[in-house]
Amino acid sequence: MAVTILAIESSCDDTSAAVIRDGYVLSNLIAGQEIHRSYGGVVPELASRAHQANIVPVADQAIKRAGVRLEEISAVAFTRGPGLLGSLLVGTSFAKGFALAREIPLIEVNHLQAHVLVHFILHEGREARIPEFPFLCLLVSGGHTQIILLTSHLEMKILGNTIDDAAGEAFDKCGKVMGLPYPAGPGIDMLASVGNKKAFAFSKPSIKGIDFSFSGLKTNFLYFLRDRLKEDPDFIAKNKPDLCASLQHTIISILVSKLVKASTETGIREIGIAGGVSANSGLREAVELEAEKRKWNLFLPELGYTTDNAAMIGITGYYKYLRKEFTGQDVAPLARI
Ligand code: KG4
Ligand code: ZN
Repeated sequence: MAVTILAIESSCDDTSAAVIRDGYVLSNLIAGQEIHRSYGGVVPELASRAHQANIVPVADQAIKRAGVRLEEISAVAFTRGPGLLGSLLVGTSFAKGFALAREIPLIEVNHLQAHVLVHFILHEGREARIPEFPFLCLLVSGGHTQIILLTSHLEMKILGNTIDDAAGEAFDKCGKVMGLPYPAGPGIDMLASVGNKKAFAFSKPSIKGIDFSFSGLKTNFLYFLRDRLKEDPDFIAKNKPDLCASLQHTIISILVSKLVKASTETGIREIGIAGGVSANSGLREAVELEAEKRKWNLFLPELGYTTDNAAMIGITGYYKYLRKEFTGQDVAPLARI
């Protein structure tokens, strides 16, 4: 019998619901939250209130668009964490209530594991191209920067991690200093495309192994702007594309050099990237270049699967369902895992 998963994602500021059947996505809806823009970052209390308003209509639409009947849903998968506690509570409570009412299993999903598993989502009418194991994935988001080794769908090991800020945070915080709206990653990406990446040189960390650090770059960027603004108050306005291109180039070279190192050390050439920052056009180009040079079998996620979405929770839930890894009704969300 077909396995049909209703998946819920509410870890940060996107309310998302998806229906996945036997690994194929039938629907994937995302309601974003514009309200945070004017605050320059996500306001947790506002996020959880917006999730409360959105969760029922989004889940309802996901089920309708998938064209499935309630009786066909085999289980509910939800993001247990990491994320904002108030936001996670909304998705968790909805999933619990749904599972209880329908008398179906509940499946908890780790948000980071789900980001990596986007590469295994199948689409009707499209030839499946999925990674083989072992698979090495660079996960770059607003809260995380990790190199993850997968030996199966559900067995993973973190090989490298950031010791301070995440790559997305570096984009967002430096963008904020330049007056760009939150989240600044997409804006920097756009401006960088018309700037000179060699215009300015920013510091790169010298961290051993395959760990990352971005706080030094952020401070360097901040002090650089402070000094230049003293000489010319219009410095940012006059140089925005070049600043964005140079900053983006620095972040990408830090990320790519560690990914290359991880691949060389493990001998794995089955490589992917995932998470919000994997939408960055410069990063995608840079890993494609490396892939050509190093004969990697490269997996770039579709843009719609880079940022938070419930389809990734659904595919993870599907593999957990096959293993009967279910969760009790006493489960509580976890801000940190
Ligand atoms: O995965 P995600 O949606 O949420 C987290 O789990 O954190 O990632 C959000 C992050 C933000 O920092 C945002 O600025 C960044 O992804 N981002 C980008 C781009 N699109 C989103 N960063 C650089 N270039 C982009 N095109
Ligand atoms: Zn995420």
